[in-house]
Amino acid sequence: MKLSRRVNAIQPSPTLAITAKAKALSARGIDVVSLGAGEPDMDTPAHVKQAGVAAIEQGFTKYTATPGTPDLRRAIAAKMARENHLAYDETEVIASVGAKHAIFNAFQALVDEGDEVLIPAPYWVSYPDMVLLAGGKPVIVPSRAEDGFVPRPEAIAERLSDRTAAIVLNSPSNPTGAVWSREVLGQIASVLEGHSCAIISDDIYEHLIYTGQPFANILNVAPQLRDRTIVVNGLSKSFSMTGWRLGWAAAPKPIVAAMQKIQDQSTSNPSSITQMAAIAALQGGQECVEEMRKKFDARRRYVEERLAGIPGLHCGPIGGAFYAFVDAKALCARAYRGASIGGSSARLAEILLDEFQVAVIPGAPFGAEGYIRLSFATSMEQLEKGLDRIAAFARSLD
Ligand SMILES: Cc1ncc(COP(=O)(O)O)c(C=O)c1O
Repeated sequence: MKLSRRVNAIQPSPTLAITAKAKALSARGIDVVSLGAGEPDMDTPAHVKQAGVAAIEQGFTKYTATPGTPDLRRAIAAKMARENHLAYDETEVIASVGAKHAIFNAFQALVDEGDEVLIPAPYWVSYPDMVLLAGGKPVIVPSRAEDGFVPRPEAIAERLSDRTAAIVLNSPSNPTGAVWSREVLGQIASVLEGHSCAIISDDIYEHLIYTGQPFANILNVAPQLRDRTIVVNGLSKSFSMTGWRLGWAAAPKPIVAAMQKIQDQSTSNPSSITQMAAIAALQGGQECVEEMRKKFDARRRYVEERLAGIPGLHCGPIGGAFYAFVDAKALCARAYRGASIGGSSARLAEILLDEFQVAVIPGAPFGAEGYIRLSFATSMEQLEKGLDRIAAFARSLD
């Protein structure tokens, strides 16, 4: 039996792999601090859980329409009008099994063999592999730490070609936390106006911004791009609903119809129970979202302060999401117990997990060797313990 070329071209998710290893060590009774997972530690709000329970009890446990129930699609469209000032008809919305699924379907719908997709780096680990699975070629757009990891519009312009099928925008960003200003979005929009590629705006961290600036996506500054933009979002991060699996895409009807065809022939609808919980999340009080943001903000400040006190690590101000993206090149250049770390953030992360029992994600899979990503989606207690261990590791280097 042989495996397909497509599957051989991609890697398992390093984030999920390290998180799984940390969980396995914990299950063996080892006291591991996990700063790996991009998953809020808070519980799903009670009213949302109750809506899920009610769905089960009322027997709402059958297939629904592939893109979600009309009620859910209306609730998503209403959310986008209310919070994002974007007008979508319910038929321009498709609910999927997480934002990840929506992005996967979008690439399947847009990318032909050999087509290029522009991905600003550092990037969420899944984008390049999803493009490869669609037969496309990821084209990485570099950014600079001194620009706060916001890509320069000219770096995008230089890489657009007649093979470019799409570009992915992700602000606030995983892994850097960068929040792209309206000004930069406007400049990027001007560059994209000279091309016909599709634009995928991954807005999953929209509610987690610490700079005081309101969230904006490219359509807020360039509504003329609407007919080729796919706005992706979901409930995993804002409502702490990672396990429920609910995301969506809002896009012009032909794109939604294409994504629906893919979903028709693969997963069908997201869970009916989850859909009822999602309606409760979208239509209920939104205070819980702000409460969670405030908790993350306190942790962000603590992490920034602690990192500033660890020689060899550098992290700029964290604008959004719940990650510190830390320049660890100085530590990667050192040696641990006589053996060089060799500039490898993967080796550094391995030592941190095996010898100091703290899980972080190496930068290389995000397109930034020499960096590590720390998630602060965990309790203050765990953060304190994890950062103490990282400080002890830094002190222990030759
Ligand atoms: C940038 C980004 N987009 C999308 C997702 C997917 O979220 P979900 O599939 O849980 O909705 C994640 C999750 O980590 C993410 O970091």
